[in-house]
Amino acid sequence: MYFPKYRLRRLRRNETLRRLVRETRLSVDDLIYPLFAVPGFSVRTPVPSMPGVFQLSVDELVQEALEAKALGIPAILLFGIPEAKDEVGSGAYAPDGIVQRAVREVKNRVSGLLVITDVCLCEYTSHGHCGVLRGDEVENDATLELLARTALSHARAGADVVAPSDMMDGRVAAIRDTLDENDFSQVPIMSYAAKYASGFYGPFRDAAQSTPQFGDRRSHQMDPANSDEALREIRLDVEEGADIVMVKPALAYLDVITRARLEFDLPLAAYSVSGEYAMIKAAAERGWLDERRIMMEVLTAIKRAGADMIITYHAKDVARVLTS
Ligand code: PBG
Repeated sequence: MYFPKYRLRRLRRNETLRRLVRETRLSVDDLIYPLFAVPGFSVRTPVPSMPGVFQLSVDELVQEALEAKALGIPAILLFGIPEAKDEVGSGAYAPDGIVQRAVREVKNRVSGLLVITDVCLCEYTSHGHCGVLRGDEVENDATLELLARTALSHARAGADVVAPSDMMDGRVAAIRDTLDENDFSQVPIMSYAAKYASGFYGPFRDAAQSTPQFGDRRSHQMDPANSDEALREIRLDVEEGADIVMVKPALAYLDVITRARLEFDLPLAAYSVSGEYAMIKAAAERGWLDERRIMMEVLTAIKRAGADMIITYHAKDVARVLTS
């Protein structure tokens, strides 16, 4: 029996001691801030299920990017909502598409901010699926070429990192090959490697207007019940050339983050998704939870689980807390 000689409470007696022995530290350096670009000028449309998140026209998005930069946030992640959608998602790879325009403007107007682009077709297809359809199935191999074209068009617009989120098999290799053949061998790929078919994406699909018109994404996104499979997904993406791998969502998948951390030595990202944000905001609005405290607790937990970087809609608020 160690007690009463050894007492763990000794190191918890005051904040200075606690600070000294703290194991996990959330830093502004860990944050990636997602933004939604829409056509138009001076547009700032609130997303009802995500208080504090807006669909932004490019001019407004630049303002938001400047603010993020001023708060010390190193990176933004861009999504786009196009003027028009079609069967093959051509807005995703149009040289003058919404994301391409947003990237160009941010790169021109905000120096030293990393611009990561989400590479997927679901916001650009009329049916809302992540690729081209044959019957009512998403056709894997035909989709790869379009994803590679999308990634290339983002790189041409000046994207610093491309982030495929579609979960087609082989897309990291297809994107890597296309980038390399076109002189973009320096552009890293952050792959949404273990992305689950999750109910937590609900608010995002309102924000990005990307809800599938029929069916769901279970034929390509992962079953929430599996974690061995997540390691296989990550391993394949690493072999195909991913530079950063991601687990998504974060809060309900902390065990997957930890397993990925233990198994792989690549930089590991976690996406704390729209539903995670909405839950905290909703409970805080009702006065049921302390927003600031829960936000910091959840994001610290994601880091403690093993993530090196966190994509979060709270990024600006966290940066403010950390620098206050
Ligand atoms: C697909 C994509 C989604 C999210 C990021 N990229 C939606 C989906 O797979 O349905 C979700 C992000 C979030 O919920 O915050 N382009």
